[in-house]
Amino acid sequence: MASIGQIIFWSMIVLIFVMAGFIILLLAIAFSRSQSFVQSSDQSPVGNLGQDVVLNCKFNPKLITGMQTNDVSITWTKAGLTRPVYRYQNQAAQLQDQDPQFKGRTQLFPDAIAGGNASLLLQRVSMVDEGVYQCSVSASGASGSVSIHLWVAAYSSPTFSRSMTTLTAEAPRWFPKPNVTWTVYQGDVLNASTEFFNNSAGIFTVVSTLKLPAHTNETYTCVIENTLVVAVSQATLTGDSGLTASTDYSFNSATPSRRYLHLLLIAPLLYSYFLT
Ligand SMILES: *[C@@H]1O[C@H](CO)[C@@H](O)[C@H](O)[C@H]1NC(C)=O
Ligand SMILES: *[C@@H]1O[C@H](CO)[C@@H](O)[C@H](O)[C@H]1NC(C)=O
Ligand SMILES: *[C@@H]1O[C@H](CO)[C@@H](O)[C@H](O)[C@H]1NC(C)=O
Ligand SMILES: *[C@@H]1O[C@H](CO)[C@@H](O)[C@H](O)[C@H]1NC(C)=O
Ligand SMILES: *[C@@H]1O[C@H](CO)[C@@H](O)[C@H](O)[C@H]1NC(C)=O
Repeated sequence: MASIGQIIFWSMIVLIFVMAGFIILLLAIAFSRSQSFVQSSDQSPVGNLGQDVVLNCKFNPKLITGMQTNDVSITWTKAGLTRPVYRYQNQAAQLQDQDPQFKGRTQLFPDAIAGGNASLLLQRVSMVDEGVYQCSVSASGASGSVSIHLWVAAYSSPTFSRSMTTLTAEAPRWFPKPNVTWTVYQGDVLNASTEFFNNSAGIFTVVSTLKLPAHTNETYTCVIENTLVVAVSQATLTGDSGLTASTDYSFNSATPSRRYLHLLLIAPLLYSYFLT
């Protein structure tokens, strides 16, 4: 009969092996990710309607046999389309069978290809461009692909104007419909009235007006936010009519893979936490 002590001892041994195996698996996944031939530093870019966007894709030329970058072929495809978005082979664009949706709107960066840059420049982004793209690269001894989810929104910085008693932010192009929040100091929320004007294409103009106390010298923060984009503007009032403003953007389209990487980073911490 095994004593309680022995049972606990062997349970601990088994547990340690299982945990160690788990950690090795996680490290192997992390390692294979960092070593893969084709990667993207932004797997969920947000394009601004009507403007250009770069779909980021890079490959490691050191993994090509003899570093023969002359025979690199790059193919961009989009889920749901049978014809390619862009194809590059024999050191030239091969666009005979390109999907008509992308005609005249795509290019690579030819001078940068030998250095491992397979990024696609997509011009004049439209709503139908939204979707999952695949960047595939093959060369002697190496091949791989990465998928990139392009989101499309419309966003623009507000311009500010002030009167004696009001501060108004007006932003001409937003989609999807955003909400607007004004704060002052360390985040005290202010009451403002916001109107949306919807043009024929369904794009919104945002006009938001804040009532000001007399003779204010504050910095007001105006946040215009929709499901994809957050625009944070700081408007500083000085004297009776002075006004300076700036806007920073961030994007709400975090990918599952980024969350997954966080998990990889905290896993060893959890592991050591449970062991001690
Ligand atoms: C590729 O080159 C273009 C143009 O120089 C640049 O905008 C882009 O960031 C580069 N992408 C990568 C992955 O290096
Ligand atoms: C904001 O406006 C609403 C409706 O006009 C009003 O009920 C509320 O008291 C106001 N809040 C502040 C902090 O002024
Ligand atoms: C915006 O305008 C378009 C065309 O006028 C209309 O079809 C659409 O329903 C409007 N959208 C909203 C949210 O009002
Ligand atoms: C504003 O919109 C964002 C994105 O759609 C949402 O996450 C947030 O909760 C909204 N805030 C308010 C106050 O409605
Ligand atoms: C605002 O700033 C101006 C110039 O910097 C100054 O003359 C004025 O007294 C200030 N007003 C308030 C209410 O602080």
